[in-house]
Amino acid sequence: MSLKVLRSRKHMAVALYGTAASALVLAYGFEVVGERFFVPAFSAVSVSAGLLVFLRMDSLLRDCLRNTERTRRVRGELRHVRRRLDSLERAEESRHHGQVKAAAASQARMEREFTLVDRKFRALERTVRDTYAQTEAFVDLRALISPRAPLPPLVNWAASADALRPMIEWILRTEPKVIVECGSGSSSVWMGYVAERTGSTIIALEHDPHYAELSRALVEAHGLSDVVDVRLAQLREWRNGEESWQWYALDAVEDLAEIGLLFVDGPPGATGPLARYPALPILLPRCADQVAVFLDDTRREEESAVSDRWAAEFPGLVRSDNRGNKGLDMFVRSSG
Ligand SMILES: C[S@@+](CC[C@H](N)C(=O)[O-])C[C@H]1O[C@@H](n2cnc3c(N)ncnc32)[C@H](O)[C@@H]1O
Repeated sequence: MSLKVLRSRKHMAVALYGTAASALVLAYGFEVVGERFFVPAFSAVSVSAGLLVFLRMDSLLRDCLRNTERTRRVRGELRHVRRRLDSLERAEESRHHGQVKAAAASQARMEREFTLVDRKFRALERTVRDTYAQTEAFVDLRALISPRAPLPPLVNWAASADALRPMIEWILRTEPKVIVECGSGSSSVWMGYVAERTGSTIIALEHDPHYAELSRALVEAHGLSDVVDVRLAQLREWRNGEESWQWYALDAVEDLAEIGLLFVDGPPGATGPLARYPALPILLPRCADQVAVFLDDTRREEESAVSDRWAAEFPGLVRSDNRGNKGLDMFVRSSG
Protein backbone atom coordinates (compact mmCIF):
# COMPACT_ATOMS: atom_id res chain seq x y z
CA MET A 1 0.00 0.00 0.00
CA SER A 2 2.75 2.49 1.06
CA LEU A 3 4.83 1.33 -2.00
CA LYS A 4 1.91 2.16 -4.26
CA VAL A 5 1.54 5.62 -2.71
CA LEU A 6 5.32 6.20 -3.11
CA ARG A 7 5.22 5.19 -6.76
CA SER A 8 2.25 7.43 -7.55
CA ARG A 9 3.98 10.35 -5.81
CA LYS A 10 7.13 9.74 -7.90
CA HIS A 11 5.02 9.78 -11.02
CA MET A 12 3.27 12.89 -9.82
CA ALA A 13 6.65 14.64 -9.21
CA VAL A 14 7.96 13.61 -12.65
CA ALA A 15 4.73 14.87 -14.23
CA LEU A 16 5.01 18.12 -12.23
CA TYR A 17 8.62 18.63 -13.30
CA GLY A 18 7.71 17.86 -16.89
CA THR A 19 4.76 20.25 -16.80
CA ALA A 20 6.84 22.95 -15.12
CA ALA A 21 9.65 22.51 -17.69
CA SER A 22 7.18 22.67 -20.58
CA ALA A 23 5.56 25.76 -19.02
CA LEU A 24 8.97 27.42 -18.73
CA VAL A 25 9.88 26.62 -22.30
CA LEU A 26 6.54 28.05 -23.38
CA ALA A 27 6.91 31.12 -21.12
CA TYR A 28 10.55 31.98 -21.75
CA GLY A 29 11.09 30.42 -25.14
CA PHE A 30 13.88 28.05 -26.09
CA GLU A 31 16.36 30.87 -26.33
CA VAL A 32 15.99 32.19 -22.85
CA VAL A 33 16.07 28.71 -21.50
CA GLY A 34 19.17 28.01 -23.53
CA GLU A 35 20.99 31.22 -22.56
CA ARG A 36 19.96 31.74 -19.02
CA PHE A 37 19.03 28.33 -17.84
CA PHE A 38 19.41 29.09 -14.16
CA VAL A 39 16.44 31.56 -13.96
CA PRO A 40 13.79 29.32 -15.50
CA ALA A 41 15.22 26.28 -13.72
CA PHE A 42 15.01 28.03 -10.35
CA SER A 43 11.45 29.16 -11.09
CA ALA A 44 10.55 25.63 -12.14
CA VAL A 45 12.04 24.14 -8.95
CA SER A 46 10.28 26.74 -6.73
CA VAL A 47 6.91 26.23 -8.41
CA SER A 48 7.17 22.47 -8.24
CA ALA A 49 8.37 22.56 -4.59
CA GLY A 50 5.40 24.78 -3.74
CA LEU A 51 3.08 22.41 -5.56
CA LEU A 52 4.64 19.44 -3.78
CA VAL A 53 4.27 21.09 -0.36
CA PHE A 54 0.65 21.89 -1.21
CA LEU A 55 -0.03 18.32 -2.30
CA ARG A 56 1.73 16.94 0.74
CA MET A 57 -0.28 19.19 3.06
CA ASP A 58 -3.45 18.15 1.27
CA SER A 59 -2.65 14.47 1.69
CA LEU A 60 -1.72 15.00 5.36
CA LEU A 61 -4.98 16.82 5.91
CA ARG A 62 -6.92 13.98 4.26
CA ASP A 63 -5.03 11.42 6.37
CA CYS A 64 -5.78 13.42 9.47
CA LEU A 65 -9.48 13.60 8.60
CA ARG A 66 -9.55 9.89 7.88
CA ASN A 67 -7.76 9.17 11.19
CA THR A 68 -10.17 11.42 13.08
CA GLU A 69 -13.12 9.54 11.57
CA ARG A 70 -11.50 6.19 12.44
CA THR A 71 -10.72 7.35 15.98
CA ARG A 72 -14.36 8.42 16.40
CA ARG A 73 -15.54 5.03 15.20
CA VAL A 74 -13.09 3.18 17.44
CA ARG A 75 -14.17 5.33 20.40
CA GLY A 76 -17.81 4.47 19.67
CA GLU A 77 -16.95 0.81 19.52
CA LEU A 78 -14.96 1.09 22.75
CA ARG A 79 -17.92 2.76 24.45
CA HIS A 80 -20.17 -0.03 23.22
CA VAL A 81 -17.71 -2.67 24.45
CA ARG A 82 -17.46 -0.92 27.82
CA ARG A 83 -21.25 -0.80 28.14
CA ARG A 84 -21.43 -4.48 27.25
CA LEU A 85 -18.70 -5.28 29.75
CA ASP A 86 -20.51 -3.28 32.44
CA SER A 87 -23.76 -5.09 31.82
CA LEU A 88 -21.95 -8.45 31.79
CA GLU A 89 -20.24 -7.49 35.04
CA ARG A 90 -23.58 -6.52 36.59
CA ALA A 91 -25.19 -9.76 35.40
CA GLU A 92 -22.26 -11.76 36.77
CA GLU A 93 -22.41 -9.87 40.05
CA SER A 94 -26.12 -10.52 40.48
CA ARG A 95 -25.64 -14.18 39.51
CA HIS A 96 -22.80 -14.44 42.03
CA HIS A 97 -24.91 -12.66 44.67
CA GLY A 98 -27.75 -15.12 43.99
CA GLN A 99 -25.38 -18.05 44.29
CA VAL A 100 -23.91 -16.71 47.54
CA LYS A 101 -27.44 -16.21 48.93
CA ALA A 102 -28.48 -19.71 47.87
CA ALA A 103 -25.31 -21.17 49.39
CA ALA A 104 -25.91 -19.28 52.68
CA ALA A 105 -29.53 -20.48 52.78
CA SER A 106 -28.51 -24.06 52.16
CA GLN A 107 -25.77 -23.80 54.80
CA ALA A 108 -28.32 -22.45 57.33
CA ARG A 109 -30.73 -25.27 56.42
CA MET A 110 -27.98 -27.85 56.84
CA GLU A 111 -27.01 -26.34 60.21
CA ARG A 112 -30.64 -26.51 61.37
CA GLU A 113 -30.89 -30.12 60.23
CA PHE A 114 -27.58 -30.94 61.86
CA THR A 115 -28.78 -29.38 65.15
CA LEU A 116 -31.98 -31.42 64.89
CA VAL A 117 -30.09 -34.65 64.18
CA ASP A 118 -27.65 -33.82 66.98
CA ARG A 119 -30.54 -33.22 69.40
CA LYS A 120 -32.21 -36.47 68.35
CA PHE A 121 -28.93 -38.30 68.67
CA ARG A 122 -28.41 -36.91 72.19
CA ALA A 123 -32.00 -37.86 73.11
CA LEU A 124 -31.37 -41.34 71.76
CA GLU A 125 -28.12 -41.53 73.71
CA ARG A 126 -29.98 -40.49 76.91
CA THR A 127 -32.67 -43.10 76.21
CA VAL A 128 -30.06 -45.83 75.70
CA ARG A 129 -28.22 -44.78 78.87
CA ASP A 130 -31.51 -44.62 80.81
CA THR A 131 -32.69 -47.96 79.47
CA TYR A 132 -29.41 -49.48 80.60
CA ALA A 133 -29.74 -47.89 84.07
CA GLN A 134 -33.37 -49.03 84.39
CA THR A 135 -32.53 -52.56 83.24
CA GLU A 136 -29.60 -52.77 85.62
CA ALA A 137 -31.74 -51.54 88.56
CA PHE A 138 -34.66 -53.79 87.57
CA VAL A 139 -32.48 -56.91 87.42
CA ASP A 140 -30.96 -55.96 90.75
CA LEU A 141 -34.35 -55.45 92.45
CA ARG A 142 -35.95 -58.44 90.80
CA ALA A 143 -33.29 -60.67 92.35
CA LEU A 144 -34.43 -59.52 95.82
CA ILE A 145 -38.06 -60.41 95.24
CA SER A 146 -39.92 -63.68 94.78
CA PRO A 147 -43.29 -62.39 93.57
CA ARG A 148 -46.52 -64.26 94.19
CA ALA A 149 -48.25 -62.58 91.24
CA PRO A 150 -47.13 -60.68 88.10
CA LEU A 151 -45.31 -57.57 89.22
CA PRO A 152 -46.79 -54.17 88.31
CA PRO A 153 -44.82 -52.02 85.82
CA LEU A 154 -42.19 -49.46 86.78
CA VAL A 155 -42.84 -46.99 83.96
CA ASN A 156 -44.76 -43.77 83.26
CA TRP A 157 -46.89 -42.89 86.29
CA ALA A 158 -45.08 -45.39 88.52
CA ALA A 159 -41.74 -44.90 90.23
CA SER A 160 -38.90 -46.13 88.00
CA ALA A 161 -36.57 -48.97 88.93
CA ASP A 162 -33.60 -46.69 89.47
CA ALA A 163 -35.69 -44.61 91.93
CA LEU A 164 -36.85 -47.69 93.82
CA ARG A 165 -33.33 -49.07 94.21
CA PRO A 166 -31.96 -46.49 96.74
CA MET A 167 -35.23 -46.73 98.71
CA ILE A 168 -35.05 -50.52 98.87
CA GLU A 169 -31.36 -50.26 99.82
CA TRP A 170 -32.40 -47.93 102.68
CA ILE A 171 -35.12 -50.33 103.85
CA LEU A 172 -32.71 -53.29 103.82
CA ARG A 173 -30.00 -51.31 105.60
CA THR A 174 -32.02 -49.48 108.29
CA GLU A 175 -35.08 -51.73 108.65
CA PRO A 176 -37.47 -48.86 109.34
CA LYS A 177 -40.47 -49.54 111.51
CA VAL A 178 -42.80 -47.44 109.41
CA ILE A 179 -42.61 -46.49 105.73
CA VAL A 180 -44.96 -43.82 104.37
CA GLU A 181 -45.76 -43.36 100.71
CA CYS A 182 -47.60 -40.29 99.39
CA GLY A 183 -49.27 -41.86 96.32
CA SER A 184 -49.99 -45.58 96.02
CA GLY A 185 -49.36 -47.94 93.11
CA SER A 186 -46.55 -50.17 91.82
CA SER A 187 -44.06 -48.94 94.41
CA SER A 188 -46.40 -50.12 97.18
CA VAL A 189 -46.00 -53.72 95.94
CA TRP A 190 -42.27 -53.64 95.14
CA MET A 191 -41.38 -52.04 98.47
CA GLY A 192 -44.03 -54.25 100.14
CA TYR A 193 -42.00 -57.41 99.37
CA VAL A 194 -38.89 -55.87 100.93
CA ALA A 195 -40.84 -54.50 103.90
CA GLU A 196 -42.19 -58.01 104.42
CA ARG A 197 -38.58 -59.22 104.84
CA THR A 198 -37.54 -56.44 107.23
CA GLY A 199 -40.76 -56.48 109.27
CA SER A 200 -41.63 -52.92 108.29
CA THR A 201 -45.13 -51.55 107.69
CA ILE A 202 -46.02 -49.44 104.68
CA ILE A 203 -48.74 -46.79 104.84
CA ALA A 204 -49.63 -45.77 101.26
CA LEU A 205 -51.70 -42.55 101.22
CA GLU A 206 -54.03 -42.37 98.23
CA HIS A 207 -56.25 -39.36 97.42
CA ASP A 208 -58.19 -41.03 94.59
CA PRO A 209 -60.85 -43.63 95.62
CA HIS A 210 -60.54 -45.45 92.28
CA TYR A 211 -56.77 -45.89 92.55
CA ALA A 212 -57.09 -46.67 96.24
CA GLU A 213 -59.26 -49.64 95.22
CA LEU A 214 -56.84 -50.67 92.43
CA SER A 215 -53.81 -50.43 94.71
CA ARG A 216 -55.56 -52.39 97.45
CA ALA A 217 -56.46 -55.14 94.94
CA LEU A 218 -52.85 -55.23 93.73
CA VAL A 219 -51.48 -55.48 97.25
CA GLU A 220 -53.96 -58.25 98.01
CA ALA A 221 -53.03 -60.14 94.82
CA HIS A 222 -49.45 -60.22 96.05
CA GLY A 223 -50.44 -61.34 99.54
CA LEU A 224 -49.12 -58.13 101.07
CA SER A 225 -52.26 -56.82 102.78
CA ASP A 226 -50.70 -57.32 106.24
CA VAL A 227 -47.64 -55.30 105.21
CA VAL A 228 -49.11 -52.53 103.04
CA ASP A 229 -52.00 -50.38 104.29
CA VAL A 230 -53.48 -48.41 101.40
CA ARG A 231 -55.28 -45.49 103.05
CA LEU A 232 -57.81 -43.41 101.21
CA ALA A 233 -57.06 -39.84 102.27
CA GLN A 234 -58.89 -37.32 100.13
CA LEU A 235 -57.35 -33.93 99.59
CA ARG A 236 -58.18 -31.15 102.08
CA GLU A 237 -56.95 -27.61 102.53
CA TRP A 238 -53.84 -27.33 104.67
CA ARG A 239 -52.81 -23.83 105.78
CA ASN A 240 -49.39 -22.69 106.86
CA GLY A 241 -49.13 -18.96 107.59
CA GLU A 242 -50.43 -17.07 104.55
CA GLU A 243 -50.15 -20.08 102.26
CA SER A 244 -52.53 -22.95 101.63
CA TRP A 245 -52.32 -26.31 99.83
CA GLN A 246 -54.53 -29.25 98.92
CA TRP A 247 -53.04 -32.21 100.81
CA TYR A 248 -54.09 -35.60 102.20
CA ALA A 249 -56.68 -35.38 105.02
CA LEU A 250 -54.69 -35.11 108.24
CA ASP A 251 -56.73 -37.72 110.11
CA ALA A 252 -55.08 -40.33 107.83
CA VAL A 253 -51.68 -39.57 109.36
CA GLU A 254 -52.58 -38.77 112.94
CA ASP A 255 -51.59 -42.22 114.25
CA LEU A 256 -48.23 -42.29 112.44
CA ALA A 257 -44.93 -42.28 114.31
CA GLU A 258 -41.38 -43.56 113.89
CA ILE A 259 -41.42 -43.11 110.14
CA GLY A 260 -38.02 -44.27 108.87
CA LEU A 261 -38.67 -43.79 105.14
CA LEU A 262 -40.94 -41.23 103.53
CA PHE A 263 -41.52 -41.51 99.77
CA VAL A 264 -43.14 -38.34 98.39
CA ASP A 265 -44.71 -39.19 95.00
CA GLY A 266 -48.05 -37.31 95.36
CA PRO A 267 -50.43 -35.53 95.40
CA PRO A 268 -50.50 -34.78 91.64
CA GLY A 269 -49.11 -31.43 90.48
CA ALA A 270 -52.54 -30.47 89.11
CA THR A 271 -53.83 -29.90 92.65
CA GLY A 272 -51.84 -26.65 92.91
CA PRO A 273 -48.36 -25.13 93.00
CA LEU A 274 -45.69 -26.97 95.00
CA ALA A 275 -48.30 -29.70 95.64
CA ARG A 276 -45.82 -32.02 97.37
CA TYR A 277 -44.37 -29.40 99.72
CA PRO A 278 -46.60 -30.09 102.81
CA ALA A 279 -45.30 -33.67 103.23
CA LEU A 280 -42.18 -32.65 105.11
CA PRO A 281 -43.55 -29.95 107.48
CA ILE A 282 -46.50 -32.25 108.29
CA LEU A 283 -44.73 -35.60 108.61
CA LEU A 284 -41.21 -34.74 109.82
CA PRO A 285 -42.44 -34.46 113.44
CA ARG A 286 -43.72 -38.04 113.03
CA CYS A 287 -40.40 -39.37 111.73
CA ALA A 288 -37.78 -41.44 113.56
CA ASP A 289 -34.43 -39.86 114.38
CA GLN A 290 -32.98 -41.80 111.50
CA VAL A 291 -35.08 -41.08 108.44
CA ALA A 292 -34.67 -40.75 104.67
CA VAL A 293 -37.14 -38.65 102.72
CA PHE A 294 -37.25 -39.34 98.98
CA LEU A 295 -38.82 -36.76 96.64
CA ASP A 296 -39.52 -38.15 93.14
CA ASP A 297 -39.60 -36.30 89.80
CA THR A 298 -37.18 -33.51 90.76
CA ARG A 299 -36.20 -33.07 87.13
CA ARG A 300 -39.55 -31.26 86.93
CA GLU A 301 -39.54 -27.56 87.82
CA GLU A 302 -42.23 -27.83 90.52
CA GLU A 303 -40.63 -30.73 92.38
CA SER A 304 -37.20 -29.14 92.04
CA ALA A 305 -38.63 -25.98 93.71
CA VAL A 306 -40.12 -28.11 96.52
CA SER A 307 -36.72 -29.75 97.01
CA ASP A 308 -34.96 -26.35 97.22
CA ARG A 309 -37.52 -25.05 99.70
CA TRP A 310 -37.12 -28.13 101.92
CA ALA A 311 -33.33 -27.80 101.75
CA ALA A 312 -33.62 -24.17 102.88
CA GLU A 313 -36.25 -24.77 105.60
CA PHE A 314 -34.94 -28.05 107.04
CA PRO A 315 -31.17 -27.66 107.38
CA GLY A 316 -31.06 -30.68 109.74
CA LEU A 317 -31.57 -32.91 106.70
CA VAL A 318 -28.72 -33.58 104.27
CA ARG A 319 -29.74 -33.51 100.64
CA SER A 320 -28.24 -35.53 97.80
CA ASP A 321 -29.88 -34.78 94.52
CA ASN A 322 -30.90 -35.83 91.06
CA ARG A 323 -30.57 -39.57 91.02
CA GLY A 324 -32.07 -41.40 88.07
CA ASN A 325 -33.97 -40.44 84.97
CA LYS A 326 -36.87 -38.54 86.56
CA GLY A 327 -34.77 -37.08 89.36
CA LEU A 328 -34.96 -38.38 92.90
CA ASP A 329 -33.74 -36.14 95.73
CA MET A 330 -32.89 -37.77 99.03
CA PHE A 331 -32.96 -35.97 102.39
CA VAL A 332 -31.37 -37.84 105.27
CA ARG A 333 -31.49 -37.26 109.00
CA SER A 334 -29.12 -39.54 110.75
CA SER A 335 -29.55 -40.74 114.34
CA GLY A 336 -25.79 -40.76 115.00
C1 LIG B 1 -46.96 -40.62 90.55
S1 LIG B 1 -48.14 -41.87 90.71
C2 LIG B 1 -47.16 -42.98 91.59
C3 LIG B 1 -47.74 -43.92 92.53
C4 LIG B 1 -46.74 -44.86 93.22
N1 LIG B 1 -45.87 -44.19 94.11
C5 LIG B 1 -45.92 -45.66 92.25
O1 LIG B 1 -44.74 -45.45 92.17
O2 LIG B 1 -46.48 -46.55 91.62
C6 LIG B 1 -49.21 -41.11 91.76
C7 LIG B 1 -50.67 -41.40 91.56
O3 LIG B 1 -50.92 -42.17 90.42
C8 LIG B 1 -52.19 -42.79 90.57
N2 LIG B 1 -52.14 -44.21 90.18
C9 LIG B 1 -52.06 -45.28 90.96
N3 LIG B 1 -52.10 -46.41 90.24
C10 LIG B 1 -52.25 -46.03 88.95
C11 LIG B 1 -52.37 -46.72 87.74
N4 LIG B 1 -52.36 -48.05 87.70
N5 LIG B 1 -52.46 -46.01 86.61
C12 LIG B 1 -52.48 -44.68 86.64
N6 LIG B 1 -52.37 -43.96 87.77
C13 LIG B 1 -52.27 -44.62 88.92
C14 LIG B 1 -52.60 -42.64 91.99
O4 LIG B 1 -53.60 -41.66 92.14
C15 LIG B 1 -51.31 -42.17 92.63
O5 LIG B 1 -51.53 -41.41 93.78
